[in-house]
Amino acid sequence: MTDNLHSRATLLGLGAMGRALARTLIHGGLTTTVWNRTPGKDGELIAAGAVSADSAEAAVDAADLTIVCLFDYTSVRTTLDPIAGRLRGRSVLNLTSTTPNEARELARWAAEHGIAYLDGGIMATPDMIARTGSVLLYSGSREVYDTERTTLELFGSAEYLGTDAGMASLHDFALLAGMYAMFAGFFHGAAMMRTAGVPATDFVASAVSWLTAMTQALPRHAQIIDGGDYSQGVQTLEFNKAALHAIERASGDAGIRTDIIATIRALVDRQIAEGHVGEAFQRIIEGLVA
Ligand SMILES: NC(=O)c1ccc[n+]([C@@H]2O[C@H](COP(=O)([O-])OP(=O)(O)OC[C@H]3O[C@@H](n4cnc5c(N)ncnc54)[C@H](OP(=O)(O)O)[C@@H]3O)[C@@H](O)[C@H]2O)c1
Repeated sequence: MTDNLHSRATLLGLGAMGRALARTLIHGGLTTTVWNRTPGKDGELIAAGAVSADSAEAAVDAADLTIVCLFDYTSVRTTLDPIAGRLRGRSVLNLTSTTPNEARELARWAAEHGIAYLDGGIMATPDMIARTGSVLLYSGSREVYDTERTTLELFGSAEYLGTDAGMASLHDFALLAGMYAMFAGFFHGAAMMRTAGVPATDFVASAVSWLTAMTQALPRHAQIIDGGDYSQGVQTLEFNKAALHAIERASGDAGIRTDIIATIRALVDRQIAEGHVGEAFQRIIEGLVA
């Protein structure tokens, strides 16, 4: 690769994810400058060809594109606020997890300082970066996305969700909400099985098979939710209330707390109490609106 504008990148933040991103940039042939608040985390990267900067300010001077992968919104502001002037006329890609409103605030902050801002949500763990299955969501500056597309695609498949900088984070967190609820459901099942002496490692194969099969129902759930007609569902609120009650009783009998299942049953109860007897299970989404 020739040493032009798109063959250089700076990376701020060398945690587990930042190091995976930096390794990918280096392997992709980019001249990669790295910085971390706490020194000493760049040894492996320097050995692989990275340039180490002794300050965030020096790091952002080294490239037109600065990729930020820090802990949270506050750490991004703490790091970028003092060097906003040095970033003027350059591009920032923020891959730190922030809320949608925090991403929008960063976009406003960037615009005020003449910085082009692209926000990103990483739908991958560090070991997945640059491998099949790694997906990164982007929103904010279309220009940065288009200009840096080749670099972005080093990390995984890239999806642009529009100029609203909050969209990537919104989509990211919506997916994570599904992931956490699924993980918690698996943990509940594993806790039940453990009471019968079945280790989680024996339970996991059937859990993966069942949950994978159940994902096939998601498009139908989506159709019903978007249609807003809850008279069409296959399973009613009452049917699911009975099923959830049975799981709660079985869990209680086994000495397992029912916090996770009871939360779902409470959502069902709320819809029934509001007069939606006979309607579809998907209706619990309406009870989530605060
Ligand atoms: N790991 C994952 O599976 C994963 C997946 C998707 C998205 N993400 C997101 O990627 C981001 C980084 O994750 P990670 O796994 O790399 O986290 P991590 O290993 O905990 O690293 C956190 C990084 O933030 C830096 N930092 C923390 N507070 C700071 C501050 N006040 N000022 C400057 N630097 C600060 C740390 O620097 P020090 O070394 O000095 O503490 C470190 O470089 C997070 O927003 C995370 O949600 C992670």
